[in-house]
Amino acid sequence: MEEILEKLKQEIKEIHNLESLKKVKAAYLGKKGCITKLLKNISTLSAEKRKNYGEKVNRLKREAEKIFSQKSESIKKEIENLSLEREKLDITLPGRRYAKGSLHPLSIVLREIEDIFEGLNFSIEEGPEIEYELYNFDMLNMPKEHPARDMHDTFYIDEGMLLRTHTSPVQIRVLKEKVPPLMFISPGKVYRRDADISHSPMFHQVEGMIVDKKLSFSHLKGIMTVFLRKFFGEETELRFRPSYFPFTEPSAEVDIQCIVCKGNGCRLCSYTGFLEILGCGVVHPNVFKAAGYDPEIWKGLAFGMGVERMAMLKYGIDDIRLFFENDYRFLKNFSLTAVT
Ligand code: PHE
Repeated sequence: MEEILEKLKQEIKEIHNLESLKKVKAAYLGKKGCITKLLKNISTLSAEKRKNYGEKVNRLKREAEKIFSQKSESIKKEIENLSLEREKLDITLPGRRYAKGSLHPLSIVLREIEDIFEGLNFSIEEGPEIEYELYNFDMLNMPKEHPARDMHDTFYIDEGMLLRTHTSPVQIRVLKEKVPPLMFISPGKVYRRDADISHSPMFHQVEGMIVDKKLSFSHLKGIMTVFLRKFFGEETELRFRPSYFPFTEPSAEVDIQCIVCKGNGCRLCSYTGFLEILGCGVVHPNVFKAAGYDPEIWKGLAFGMGVERMAMLKYGIDDIRLFFENDYRFLKNFSLTAVT
């Protein structure tokens, strides 16, 4: 019995998997196992030998069972440790960094424009990009053969429908839908058949309109001055130049002092010292009439600006196409959080 136990211990020493252990266990404790055989011998012995022998064999059996179950536990532990070792992660290895998204420069500028006007108590109105020719032109005092239509190279869609060439048709929509007094801006996309370094077939404008009973050009001048100085800096010099728009009378174009040469004259400002920045004026009586308002009672002020142009001048960008190519090397300049 001592020998059996010794042999068993030797045999399982080299075993490292449960499968082999099971086989060895069967050879000792299975139906035909050697210990089982010894147990079976009990019945062949005489009564006085039986007790002593029986005790010894049973002790051997318990001892063998104990050894097997301990071995089985240690094999399980071994396997677990191996797999833990295999799955080990090196958490000190630097991860791969992803570039974080950030706001597009046009979104940044648009938000800034909206913030300034909201601070002045303007609300925000929106209109569709697919617009009635009627709203885009006719009701803005540009009937069919009006020469001013030629200034807008238009994408026509269907009979009477087009891609709006400016945000001014929102003036008509709001006049028709809302009750004055009104004070709103309307940002959005506009479309013209034009493409070069400073023109894109799709670009953004912000329209503005104020309607009330007592308004004068000086209100317009004041609001434009406050807005442009907030946007370009309090020192910014402005110039109001008489101009023409069919839907305003009188009309003006507002210039800011050239951001490059500060008024001394350079290529950017064509040596004038000033840069054209927005169009504005007093709402034409025909626009009020078209929308069903009495121009004797209601007065209006309106303005419109190009968002790309505002952004180009603010950040010194010289090619409008950069806004739409989505080149990360360009876009990341406008993000505080971008990671290269
Ligand atoms: N709609 C004009 C344009 O696209 C801008 C403008 C708006 C001018 C409102 C005057 C008043 O050029």
